[in-house]
Amino acid sequence: HPALAVSRAALLPPPGGPGDAAEQELPVESWPFASYGSALHISLPQAPRAGQLVTLLIDYEAGEGPGVCWLFPEQTAGKQKPYMYTQGQAVLNRSFFPCFDTPSVKFTYSATVKVPEGFTAVMSATSWEKQKDNTFVFKMSQPIPSYLVALVVGDIVSADVGPRSRVWAEPCLIEAAKKEYDGVIEEFLVVGEKLFGPYVWGRYDILFMPPSFPFGGMENPCLTFVTPCLLAGDRSLVDVIIHEISHSWFGNLVTNATWGEFWLNEGFTMYAQRRISSEVYGLPYTCLEAATGRALLRQHMDATGEDHPLNKLRVVIEPGFCLFLGVNPDDTYNETPYEKGYCFVSYLAHLVGNQSKFDAFLQAYVNRFKFQSITADDTLEFFLEYFPELKEKGVDSIPGFEFDRWLNTPGWPPYLPDLSPGQQLMRPAEELAELWAADSLNMEAIEAVDIMGWRTYQLVYFLDQVLQKSPLPEGNVKRLSKMYPKISKAQNAELRLRWCQIVLKNNLEAEYSKVKDFLHSQGKQKYTLPLYRAMWGSSEATRALAMETFSATAPQLHVNVQNYVKKILGLGGAE
Ligand code: BES
Ligand code: ZN
Repeated sequence: HPALAVSRAALLPPPGGPGDAAEQELPVESWPFASYGSALHISLPQAPRAGQLVTLLIDYEAGEGPGVCWLFPEQTAGKQKPYMYTQGQAVLNRSFFPCFDTPSVKFTYSATVKVPEGFTAVMSATSWEKQKDNTFVFKMSQPIPSYLVALVVGDIVSADVGPRSRVWAEPCLIEAAKKEYDGVIEEFLVVGEKLFGPYVWGRYDILFMPPSFPFGGMENPCLTFVTPCLLAGDRSLVDVIIHEISHSWFGNLVTNATWGEFWLNEGFTMYAQRRISSEVYGLPYTCLEAATGRALLRQHMDATGEDHPLNKLRVVIEPGFCLFLGVNPDDTYNETPYEKGYCFVSYLAHLVGNQSKFDAFLQAYVNRFKFQSITADDTLEFFLEYFPELKEKGVDSIPGFEFDRWLNTPGWPPYLPDLSPGQQLMRPAEELAELWAADSLNMEAIEAVDIMGWRTYQLVYFLDQVLQKSPLPEGNVKRLSKMYPKISKAQNAELRLRWCQIVLKNNLEAEYSKVKDFLHSQGKQKYTLPLYRAMWGSSEATRALAMETFSATAPQLHVNVQNYVKKILGLGGAE
């Protein structure tokens, strides 16, 4: 990556050789590769024998790359001290350290990190040790792909929340962080182990990031990074934690070999997340959560068109050998690998027809491919081998449901899992949305519904229905806002996002300031981009609001998110 300055490479003497053997300087060159990085070429004096261990020393300096984020004190919760964090996925760690930055290569690592007085360093590592002189030593003893190496340095402290789990956060957030997840993490790990096999990573800790962190969660092994938006006070957004825990098996143990098959990570993880959720919270609640996921897939496909090439599970990603061609894997992030991937895994389970048999398959799958990087062909071949009777029946080529079609044809999933166990929770929300969409409001019927006892995801589902029916007849949304302060004045980020979307789609000018406030308060990509798209597509007033909000908040957004917003606003951002 251009942000990485490699100054020197040397070949280290082989271990066990004479003690005085010298390092041998090696020529270093940079060869063109793609818009998001170049190839580092180091010429060895002679070709190594197959299986020979070669140790290279590379001196480099990492500065302002997209993988290494430097925050001013004002961009943290405490606003006192600066902060730095890395975000590797998908192809950003090449700006953090020189590496084979592909998920098809796995390695162990160790790191020694010296920080200024008053700071703490944490990494995605199996061991963590503080030495003198503000020096921290880390070791990851299991092989992982480059995108899972992660580092944070900041004014952070920790608190135990379980036998192998603690939360990390800035001091001013640590109480809230502990309260949010005290005593609940272990159960997810235990259920995960029961379903998918041993948890191999030792600890499972959670780090609450500054508000500009662009994701809900990032499954860095041993130490998940999460947005502080999860601090809802009521554990209502714990599905993100269950999701990241599920990556401990799907993604971190069994890894997609290329970013073109990202669905292998995320689709299996969505399935695993919902299996754990079903065991812990029951099927009705889990189906409700899955229905909100399906709504996101619907919105995504409506926005891009079902036939968009990104709406297949196997995406073509060419590096592009000139700056303006090719696809950057980070630009392919969307709902399809998650929710269509979830549908495909659910379809495989449906073919098996028995939950415990399919659970056993998942466990065998993890065991077969752990610590490896694989393709969908490996997965599907193993599936057919594991269930020979299905292979014999030719389940891979049932017309309309061919495995090949799932992988290579864009569009709405040919099979949708049955979410009707969630009906008891979804139906009241659907009916209430119907009532609010009517030309003349039936206030008696509306007032008869008490939403005060609803779960957050029931409200989310309700708001998605309202959004789908928007714009509502004149005056309805204003009335809805008055009637449900629990929604229109919500602090919960998932509710705020939907409320802002409804405000924009209904041109409720009186509440535009809420959109601005929400975008000032956090920088998660999945919240930020939909709101800018909605503002840009609405009116002159909302376009002005978008411009004003972006110029005030741009410096605190992750550089990738900045560029995506620029593109939406026609400001000439990359991609
Ligand atoms: N690994 C992803 C986040 C990610 C994807 C980072 C692609 C960079 C590139 C993480 O596991 C994830 O999917 N997070 C979701 C959680 C949700 C699906 C519960 C998020 O951030 O919203
Ligand atoms: Zn994920």
